[in-house]
Amino acid sequence: MSDVATHRKHFLSDKVSHFTESVIREMTRQAMVHGAINLAQGFPDFPAPAEIKQAAQEAIAADINQYAITWGAKRLRNAIARQMQAGQGVPVDPETQVTVCCGSTEAMISTLLAICNAGDEVVVFEPYYENYGPDSVLSGAAPRFVKLRPPTTNGGEWTFDERELRAAFHKHTKAIIVNTPNNPTGKVFTRAELEIIRDLCVEFNVLAVTDEIYEHILYDGTKHISIASLEGMQDRTITINGMSKTYSVTGWRVGWTIAPPRVTDGIRKVHDFLTVGAPAPLQEAGVAALSLPESYYQNLAEGYRKRRDRLIPVLSEAGFQCFIPHGAYYVMTDIRRFGFADDLAFTQHLVREIGVAAVPGSSFYRDPRDGAQQLRFAFCKREETLDEAARRLKKLQA
Ligand SMILES: Cc1ncc(COP(=O)(O)O)c(C=O)c1O
Repeated sequence: MSDVATHRKHFLSDKVSHFTESVIREMTRQAMVHGAINLAQGFPDFPAPAEIKQAAQEAIAADINQYAITWGAKRLRNAIARQMQAGQGVPVDPETQVTVCCGSTEAMISTLLAICNAGDEVVVFEPYYENYGPDSVLSGAAPRFVKLRPPTTNGGEWTFDERELRAAFHKHTKAIIVNTPNNPTGKVFTRAELEIIRDLCVEFNVLAVTDEIYEHILYDGTKHISIASLEGMQDRTITINGMSKTYSVTGWRVGWTIAPPRVTDGIRKVHDFLTVGAPAPLQEAGVAALSLPESYYQNLAEGYRKRRDRLIPVLSEAGFQCFIPHGAYYVMTDIRRFGFADDLAFTQHLVREIGVAAVPGSSFYRDPRDGAQQLRFAFCKREETLDEAARRLKKLQA
């Protein structure tokens, strides 16, 4: 049967027929089946801050159980606007610029659905967080990939070629997605790099959609810069963020967009028809979360730095070449020394025989061959979990 006939028979849309299942989520399922330590999916296995759990419980006890305003509870939008102003110096009107969504995942798809038409292109750096490809396709746009190249020196940074980036911009370019701090590379974009992106956005009249959910997870003195804070970008940036990573509550599903009023108007309409709203009591807990003192964020980053510095020597000793992350909580590795045919074969060996789950590098690239000798590990785990992973990885022979 031809491909078209097969899809007709199964009643699937052409869009969805191109999607593969999320590899990251699949690896979590495999970790459970094989009793493996899950260093695949980026969710913490330790508790969320007591204050915010308490705030969620109190909100439910106080019967905050019905729909919040579709674009977000006022108190939470106010807190989001305050945080953006305090952290990045960007003034935000919570009434016209903030939309609370079901996680930054929904924030991203609502944004792309609000801004893209069929025939538009969206520039995406690769390796990339795997949702961005399907998100672009769902919105009718075509992703256009620009390579981030791995560091050539120990502790160096992933970089892009300015000319290659410029060549990706043209009259059909609607937006560029920037994820900083970056998953999977751990790259933190510098001001100079963001300025290059800014200049192209202005020259080609393009929007920047920035995924900043790891903004507080930074190492080695790096600083997070929101592209919206650069001159000329406030009116052409959609900043996406959320509670998942900063407050260790990936299952709560609270995220948001900050965007110029006209774009916000579009995002709010899409968001309303897609999900109506994010969980109301957890939005109240979000107010408590965004009121935590500065020391909370320092401890968060320091805790992850320690985990990074625990896992990397273990991986290096086992035979992985590690690309040191300067932000977020993943480490990309080169697996060439192990001599496996590809990342999929090696990931299967790891999860079944060694008892550690990781994500095959190919899931972060359009052309799987580009990631066929890479693997990503997440280190957002308790010390005991990392110790057990270390014990198991000793069985691995490079
Ligand atoms: C870059 C990036 N964006 C978005 C998400 C999903 O975030 P949320 O839980 O807010 O939907 C993840 C989760 O791993 C991520 O790594």
